[in-house]
Amino acid sequence: MCKTIERLLDLRAGTGNKLLHVLDIGCGRGQDIPKWKLARVQYMVALDFSEECIKTYEERWRTSHEPYRLFTLKQDFTSRDLYYQIEHSFYDIVSAQLCFHYMFGT
Ligand SMILES: C[S@@+](CC[C@H](N)C(=O)[O-])C[C@H]1O[C@@H](n2cnc3c(N)ncnc32)[C@H](O)[C@@H]1O
Repeated sequence: MCKTIERLLDLRAGTGNKLLHVLDIGCGRGQDIPKWKLARVQYMVALDFSEECIKTYEERWRTSHEPYRLFTLKQDFTSRDLYYQIEHSFYDIVSAQLCFHYMFGT
């Protein structure tokens, strides 16, 4: 399992039974969906600027019967209005795995 998510699971040991609200930036095709299940997520906002990734993510989420509610957003995370797109929600975890380096690609 990815070390980062392992660490998140350790962190949540101190949060009791609270169900988590998660923002997953650069969510990709949903490779991490089964791992988030272990973290007891209640509500997930998954965003990516690739429409194909978002569609695959939604399909994986649907067929894996994950217990959390999903909201997807096709959005560039470098965009200035991201804050308004995600509607001022509060998150217990903001995850951005293997995606920030794309900002420095060119
Ligand atoms: C290597 S994948 C990582 C996917 C997932 N986070 C994981 O760890 O398996 C990187 C993802 O970041 C997305 N991405 C890259 N730059 C982005 C940007 N500026 N805004 C939104 N998504 C972006 C890509 O479309 C791709 O799906």
